[in-house]
Amino acid sequence: MRDDVWTLVRFLHVLGAACWVGGMVIIGAVVVPAARRAGDRAAGRRVITAAARRFGVLGALAFAVILATGFALIDHRDLSLADLPDSDYGQRVLAKIALLAAMGVVTVAHALWQAPRVRRAEEAGDEATARRWRLVGAAADSFLLLAALATLWLAVSLVY
Ligand code: HEM
Repeated sequence: MRDDVWTLVRFLHVLGAACWVGGMVIIGAVVVPAARRAGDRAAGRRVITAAARRFGVLGALAFAVILATGFALIDHRDLSLADLPDSDYGQRVLAKIALLAAMGVVTVAHALWQAPRVRRAEEAGDEATARRWRLVGAAADSFLLLAALATLWLAVSLVY
């Protein structure tokens, strides 16, 4: 029975990870190219914004589930945060925590700081400024995708 509970916790952790990493990959590899190919640039942008907003809700939920279950799994291994630097396993978990925290900060900055600036510049007809902020957005997206894949790599190398 207790084993089933920990299987459920690990299941929720991996489900959260699948939603988080899968969401990034699907937006980058499916939604953005499909919306760009639609022909109408403004309509394409609206589709990308709507998809990103909807993913924001799922992503925030996945983020919270990953953190809560991740800390529970650390505890289940009879480890505390202070023990983590002492083992290869713990260092990988620490790197995952750091990457997830960095992804959280970049996602929030992307949504609340960079994206509104692109929109404002586009509405003002200032194409040069919009292009600059779009480049910042592309850098944020690339970081998020790479960090998500790196976290997954670290995760699957935790247990042999
Ligand atoms: C996007 C971020 C994350 C992803 C994609 C992810 C993914 C995964 C996956 C796929 C596993 C299963 C590994 C296996 O059994 O082979 C796992 C296990 C685990 N994760 Fe994460 N994880 C993430 C973040 C975190 C965070 C932030 C923590 C700590 C707070 C954490 C702590 C753990 C622990 C302790 C295990 C259990 C490994 C074991 O059974 O010993 N993870 N993670």
